[in-house]
Amino acid sequence: MCGIVGYIGSKQACPILLDGLKRLEYRGYDSAGVAVLGEGKLKSAKQKGKISGLADLIKNQNLTGGAGIAHTRWATHGEPSELNAHPHFDCSQKIAVVHNGIIENFQVLKKVLIKEGHKFVSQTDSEVLAHLIEKYKPGKTLAQAAALALKQVEGTYGLAAICLDEPEVLVAAKKGSPLVIGVGQGEYLIASDASAIISYTKHVIYLDDNELAEIKAGGHQVINLLDSRGIDKKVEEITWDLAQIEKSGFETFMLKEIFEQPQSIANALAGRILVDQGRVKMGGLDEIEEKLNKISRIIIIACGTSWHAGLVGEFIIEDLAKLPVEVEYASEFRYRKPVIDASCLVIVISQSGETADTLAALELAKANKALTFGICNVVGSSIARKVGTGCYLHAGPEIGVASTKAFTSQLTILSLIAVYLGILKKTVSQDQAKEILKNFSGLPKLIEKMLLQNDDIYKLAQKFRLASNFLYLGRGLNYPVALEGALKLKEISYIHAEGYPAAEMKHGPIALIDKNMPAVFIAVKDGTYDKVISNILEVKARNGVVIALATEGDEEIKKIVNEVIYIPETLDILSPIVNAVPLQLLAYHIARLKGCDVDKPRNLAKSVTVE
Ligand code: G6P
Repeated sequence: MCGIVGYIGSKQACPILLDGLKRLEYRGYDSAGVAVLGEGKLKSAKQKGKISGLADLIKNQNLTGGAGIAHTRWATHGEPSELNAHPHFDCSQKIAVVHNGIIENFQVLKKVLIKEGHKFVSQTDSEVLAHLIEKYKPGKTLAQAAALALKQVEGTYGLAAICLDEPEVLVAAKKGSPLVIGVGQGEYLIASDASAIISYTKHVIYLDDNELAEIKAGGHQVINLLDSRGIDKKVEEITWDLAQIEKSGFETFMLKEIFEQPQSIANALAGRILVDQGRVKMGGLDEIEEKLNKISRIIIIACGTSWHAGLVGEFIIEDLAKLPVEVEYASEFRYRKPVIDASCLVIVISQSGETADTLAALELAKANKALTFGICNVVGSSIARKVGTGCYLHAGPEIGVASTKAFTSQLTILSLIAVYLGILKKTVSQDQAKEILKNFSGLPKLIEKMLLQNDDIYKLAQKFRLASNFLYLGRGLNYPVALEGALKLKEISYIHAEGYPAAEMKHGPIALIDKNMPAVFIAVKDGTYDKVISNILEVKARNGVVIALATEGDEEIKKIVNEVIYIPETLDILSPIVNAVPLQLLAYHIARLKGCDVDKPRNLAKSVTVE
C-alpha cells in the first residue's frame, strides 16, 4: 500500500528518496512523487505509474537539496493520476506533505478550508493536511502547525511534511499507520517500512500512535500529540540485513521466499521445541500461562492468507487442546458486538502487523478485556507493539505481495501453540508431545524434499496454464490449504479459482465440472483419505480433470487421477505446512508462464493499512 520516505542531512535527498521508494514498490502503488527543499526552493515531481517513470522525469529536473519527502500512492480517494499523487501542497506552495492512511473527516475539513479561501487541486483526503498546516502556520513552527492540524483530524495517518520557511526541518507523525525514523550520522531518514532505509542505517526509532517528531540533521525531538509532552524514544537496532530484501539470484522475490521455507520454518521453531522434555517453550505464552489456564475458548482473527492459517489453527488447537476455537475475518469482527471477556483468548495473526482491520479487531478485543496474543512477522509493527504479548515468526522480510513463507511459519507457530495448550490442559501426554515435537524438528527437511519437485511442478503448470477456472478441494485441516492454494493462484495469475471443502463440492461447484476445469485435490493419507477418494471419483465421473496431492507411495491413486504430486509423509497436523508448498509453486509457475508480475500483482497491496 502507500509508502513514505523522507530524508534530511548533508547528502542529496533525491537519490536516497528514489532508492527508498524502489524498496517500497513491493507494497503495491499506482503513482509516486517527491518534493525536495534546496537552493531556497521547494521543488517537486510526481506522476502516475512506476517509480522508474518518476526517475526518468526527475532526470531532466534540478531536484537538488538536502531535505525531502517522497511517496508511493495506492489509490483510495480519487483515481491514480498526477494530481492525486503525493506530495500535496498548500496554497502558497511552501508546505509539502505525504500521507498514508485515511482522513475520515476530510470532507468536513475541506468544506471549512474552502470557505476560508483554500484552493484544492486533488480529489484526495490527504490534501486537507497541507491546507490545515498552512492555516495554523502563521507565527508557528512547522511542527507546531502540524500538531495543531492533526488535532482536527479523525482517521489514521503516517505523515511527513517539509516547509520552505524551515528548510532544516522534517516533520513526521503517526497514528494508525506505521512510521519509522532511521538515525544516521548527521542525517535522518524516515519511512513507512524499515526496508526502505535499511541500506543507510540500522538504528531506528519506531514512532507510536499520536507521536510527532521534529527532525533536524543534528537531532530530533518527539512529542505526544495528546498532551504535548516530550518523549524520550528508544533507538532500536534492526536485526535483519539488506541481503534478505534482495533477490539473491532468484528470478523473483516470491520464488526466493518459497525456497526460503526450510529456513523460515526452522527459524519459527528455533529455541521453541524441547524434544527430549516433550515441552514447547514460548516466552509470550509462558508470560500468560496462569491466565491461559482459565480460558474457555479461543477466537482467531486475521485477514487473507493469515486467515487461512487461522482456519488450520482451529483444527489443530481443537484437536490437541480440546478448546473451542472460532476464526473470524478481522473486517467482520470489528463491526460485530462480540461476546468476549477475560475467559476468551483472542489470537490475532498478521504477517505485516499493520493490517488496519486486524489492528482494529485487536483493539476491540482488548477493550472487551479478552486475553490477547499476536502472531506477527514484522518486528516493531503496530500490532506487535499493541498486542502486549505474542510471538514473532522470524521468517525475515516477505517482499512478494502474495504471502508464502509467512503462511507456513504461521502454521508452524499455530501448531506449536496447539501443542503448548494441549500440554497445559493435559490433553496431550508428554509422550505424545515428544512424538509430535520430533516430527516438528524434521519439518525443514521435508520442505527441502518437497522443493526438489519444482521442475515437475513447472511441467504440470505448462499443461494447465491455459485453464481459466480451477477448483481446489480438501478436507479437514487441508480444507484451508485448498482455500490458500486457490487464493495464491488467483492473486498472481488472475485465473479464477475457488477453494472448497471437498465433500461440499456436490452442493454447488460440481455443476462447474467439465473437461476444461482442473480440480486440485489434497488427497494425502489422513483420516479423510477414503472420503476424498470418493469425491475425486465424483469429479472423474463428470469428465473432470484431477490433479492430486498424494502421499508418497500411494500408487493406487495414479489409476484414478490425471496428475499426481507426491508429498512426503508426516503427521496429520503438520501436513498443511508441507502441502502448501506445491500449491505455491503451481500458482507461481502458471502465473509466470502467463507473463504475470508475480511479485507485484495488479490491484493488490502487501500491507493493507486502510479499511
Ligand atoms: C493483503 C496481502 C495478503 C495478506 C493480507 C493480510 O491482502 O495481499 O497477502 O494475506 O493482506 O495481511 P497480514 O499482513 O495482516 O497478514
